[in-house]
Amino acid sequence: MEFFISGTDTGIGKTVLSALICRYYVDKGLKTAYYKAIQTGAIKKNNGLGSGDVDFVQNFSRAKGYSSLLFKKPASPHYASELENREIILEKLLSDYRSIATQHEVVISEGAGGLFVPLDRKGTTMGHLCREMGVPLILAGRAGLGTINHSALSLNYAKMLGIDRQAVFLFSDAKDPSNLELELDNVSMLKELFGIKHIYRLPLVFGVDVDKMCFGQMEGLYHDFTELVKEKDDLF
Ligand SMILES: Nc1ncnc2c1ncn2[C@@H]1O[C@H](COP(=O)(O)OP(=O)(O)OP(=O)(O)O)[C@@H](O)[C@H]1O
Ligand SMILES: [Mg+2]
Repeated sequence: MEFFISGTDTGIGKTVLSALICRYYVDKGLKTAYYKAIQTGAIKKNNGLGSGDVDFVQNFSRAKGYSSLLFKKPASPHYASELENREIILEKLLSDYRSIATQHEVVISEGAGGLFVPLDRKGTTMGHLCREMGVPLILAGRAGLGTINHSALSLNYAKMLGIDRQAVFLFSDAKDPSNLELELDNVSMLKELFGIKHIYRLPLVFGVDVDKMCFGQMEGLYHDFTELVKEKDDLF
């Protein structure tokens, strides 16, 4: 089982979603890996650089985390890599990915930023990485105003690249129940426009901070997640 997690934006909940999905497969007893191919804004560690996303997912899910390229600057990968004079080579990332995939039953990859994020100045994007991996896309987005536009742009780009297997998770601010009708309409519009069966809403919960490694109410969120996807074996 393999999925690529992307988002309508940076900071939208890709890592939180990756942590939930990894935990789901770990709890099923499957040998699960999390792969953050490119981490920009890498954190300083005793013996060099590390990925905050990998640390968060590993700690919450107990999946094994991997990363190929760590860059210091919190910026688009094409730019962060230029600053360090280290070219991003898609084939190298794919080869790392394949080697992880041969050692695990499940691999959950997380992109950096959204699907159109450039990896170089020649037109290679995060979307190409997902397409070349040949895995379904799971898009993280925000429920509410702007959702249809943001999600549709990302899903259309994925389709254009030939990524046809898609699912969407929308994080909703449950504090404002007056938006419920609008959010449910977002879901049905996206289902109709893209023929996607699996579009789910999940709440934003208290106290979660990926960068500060705060898990807050992640356990409650995980419970909601398992309720949503139970009996849907592969999430699709
Ligand atoms: N379901 C949620 N409940 C509560 N807070 C959330 C949730 N999802 C995301 N957040 C908040 O948004 C922040 C960013 O989420 P996350 O790190 O998952 O985004 P991302 O898309 O992976 O960002 P990046 O592009 O940096 O990888 C989290 O630190 C957390 O504070
Ligand atoms: Mg992330």
